[in-house]
Amino acid sequence: MPEVQDFDQPTTLSADLVVDGGARTPGHPAALTVEVPGDKSVSHRALLAALLPGAPSRLTLRGANLGGAVRALLPALRGLGLRTHTDGDTLTVERDGAPVPQPVRPHPTVTDWPEGVPYLETGGSSAAARLLIGLLAGTGRSAVVDGDETLRHRPMDWLVTPLVQLGADIRYLAEPGRLPALVRTPVRRPGAVDLAVGSAQARSGVLLAAVAARLAVEIRHPVRSRDHTERMLSAFGARLTEGPGAVGYDGGAYTVPPVVDIPADPSLAAYPVAAQLLGHGGGELRVPDVCLNPTRLGFFEVLRRAGADLGYEDTRPGSSGETVGTIVARGGLDGVTAVRVDDPATLHTLIDEVPLLALVAARLPGTSWIGCAEELRFKETDRLTTTARMASAFGARVEVADDGLRVTGGAPLAAGEVPGFEDHRIAMAAATLAMSLPGRTTVLGGGCHRTSFPDFAEVQRAVGADITEVATV
Ligand code: S3P
Repeated sequence: MPEVQDFDQPTTLSADLVVDGGARTPGHPAALTVEVPGDKSVSHRALLAALLPGAPSRLTLRGANLGGAVRALLPALRGLGLRTHTDGDTLTVERDGAPVPQPVRPHPTVTDWPEGVPYLETGGSSAAARLLIGLLAGTGRSAVVDGDETLRHRPMDWLVTPLVQLGADIRYLAEPGRLPALVRTPVRRPGAVDLAVGSAQARSGVLLAAVAARLAVEIRHPVRSRDHTERMLSAFGARLTEGPGAVGYDGGAYTVPPVVDIPADPSLAAYPVAAQLLGHGGGELRVPDVCLNPTRLGFFEVLRRAGADLGYEDTRPGSSGETVGTIVARGGLDGVTAVRVDDPATLHTLIDEVPLLALVAARLPGTSWIGCAEELRFKETDRLTTTARMASAFGARVEVADDGLRVTGGAPLAAGEVPGFEDHRIAMAAATLAMSLPGRTTVLGGGCHRTSFPDFAEVQRAVGADITEVATV
């Protein structure tokens, strides 16, 4: 089994996505099936389970997402003495290695990096950084966690503040609330903490810290966002309680299994499904083995409620406490009405699909509203602004409000040059809309789809796209 050497290479190819769209995506056979990669969130969590006390010396993830965001964790794991191997989409982590030191990324204000603790860089992945900080704060392993320039601007106090309340010693080495952060000592005081935001990464980081430390906690949260961590830990045998607005852990035992199967990613399934709906290609599109966790299905649910022919078949229990099944999309957007998202729980079920939903809404009659979306300002980009700017480049009418997007449907849309802002969700949404527009669209910097969906172009080709990737350097 080869050791994963290429994981330290840049994960974002400098490339544009060039899409030659038609007024109608060519019709495909009556029933077409496409597969999408493993779920990014479940992959992150399962990978980090290798750091939980008592984890097996060899942990295997089958069907892992191997995009840049998940790869971003691997050098950090090696920095902690774990060895990583890949074979297709099977990822194995072994505990028998010696720590491989990572080079320190220079920082304009930090000159005195702490001596003798591992330096762990997590690229641009906020999930990698936040969940890793949680695991370190639970296991008591001291380390510096850092990220690339984008990640250094994203908030960490959503997670660090409650960890400090639970007794962890975590210090910011540069700006308050921002990476790099030094985790010095673990959580040690049981009790209740209140999260300021609905971010699942924040809640998961605190929960992983508590479970790693076997510390009883109650984590009160404003919104029930994706619950993969809770499901995974419960499947491992940890006793969690779920009440309105809170998750509790009693400090009890659990067992990490040697193999975790990762279901396909519903956020990635959204792109071929949107291509089907926007393309009016007729027929039926099936995406099998997808994670059907209800905290992730908002894109499909909101459109289904608005009249789209979307459903789930072959549903069955999967690994890590998740339900899996086939997403089925039939027909297009005829008869579908404007969409409305105006509660935080629904927003969190489609938080990564907002750029795509906004573009679909531009094709619907009337005015759509995607609200309660303040947290989108803290993604890889300020996604309210970048979604509106990308959509406007097509001619769509998208207004940015403090907490959401208002989309006035029916404006004529045209192919052209559109910005991708080096944000994978923006670039993939743009390329998907472009499939249905006559003429050539160039999504600048669209190669960033590799962050979460390395075979995006191949999958979209299978649903009728004429899409190529053109290197820019
Ligand atoms: C994720 C949670 C979401 C999501 C991100 C992955 C996770 O972020 O946008 O792509 O794996 O927990 P927030 O928790 O910050 O909302």
